[in-house]
Amino acid sequence: MLQDQFSRRFSYLRLSLTESCNFRCSYCLPNGNECHTRSNELTLPEIKRLVTAFAMAGTRKIRLTGGEPSLRRDLCEIISICKEVPGIETVAMTTNGYRLKRDISSWLDAGLDALNVSVDSLDPATFELITGQDKLAEILEGIELATELGIKKLKLNTVLLRQHNSGALPDFMDFVKHRAVTLRFIELMQTGDNNAFFARQHLSGDQIKQQLLAAGWLQAVKDKDAGPAQEFYHSSHQGGIGLIMPYSKDFCADCNRLRVSSLGELYLCLFTEQHRSLRHLLQQDQPLKVQQFLQQSLQFKSSSHQLSEQKTGATRHLAMIGG
Ligand code: 5AD
Ligand code: SF4
Repeated sequence: MLQDQFSRRFSYLRLSLTESCNFRCSYCLPNGNECHTRSNELTLPEIKRLVTAFAMAGTRKIRLTGGEPSLRRDLCEIISICKEVPGIETVAMTTNGYRLKRDISSWLDAGLDALNVSVDSLDPATFELITGQDKLAEILEGIELATELGIKKLKLNTVLLRQHNSGALPDFMDFVKHRAVTLRFIELMQTGDNNAFFARQHLSGDQIKQQLLAAGWLQAVKDKDAGPAQEFYHSSHQGGIGLIMPYSKDFCADCNRLRVSSLGELYLCLFTEQHRSLRHLLQQDQPLKVQQFLQQSLQFKSSSHQLSEQKTGATRHLAMIGG
């Protein structure tokens, strides 16, 4: 099992399939994305070797990210390749929802187990203001369809923004009242490109937490291998509400994930200067060499990000490595 010098174990890989995205989220790609890397993205055989090596090293869950992963034409093949690798128990994906309604049934047929969809507002005009796309209604239809088709796990991601959605907790509570989905507020993170936006819009998730507790929501006890979200439930609501607070103390203490970019670079953290390409090791079947590379690299993983000192590393925006 992959382990770092702080005894953290890594069983979860977030694999970005493309830097390309068709949304213009104001915290990520406000001017859209002139993507120059499409022709150089990891190929199917490279992905298969990568995932096989990670699985041999103890990875049990893969999340496909981007950019927007559904812009890859071979997405369904990628899902089924990941699903077929011995040891991989869960194939998940994070999407902006643009292709959800059209493609969810083929993603499920290919073996997708879990899906996170970004929904920053339940108000169509605000949604468009944040993302640059007038697509809320269609995305919500896609979400209903995913539920009808029996997806095992469905979560919504909402980036908490002072101006746009910090007062929308009651709407989101209503949304999960009769739906078995968990909606997670993600605290806005500073990246190289979004400094001014961050200064205007960042808000601590703590005040959402206080509102939830005051309204009778109870914090769930975390599973041993749960992610960083704190989750809350209420007896009269079918779904849950979660909080991801990267600025909170000890956020990194049980980090369980590694990231690989669409160009085959290993990122030890979202906010680091350190990234090393492992693509040269994916040109033939040599999983042991990949494992050695991972284990060596991990010795350099630091105990925590340094976001509170405004150190955002090499990360200009999260579309580079999928959040
Ligand atoms: N801060 C917080 N969340 C972000 N995301 C993208 N950029 C940021 C940021 N700067 C979110 C997206 C998506 C997930 C992959 O990460 O909205 O839900
Ligand atoms: Fe695209 Fe996701 Fe960035 Fe929005 S947050 S622009 S959907 S990559």
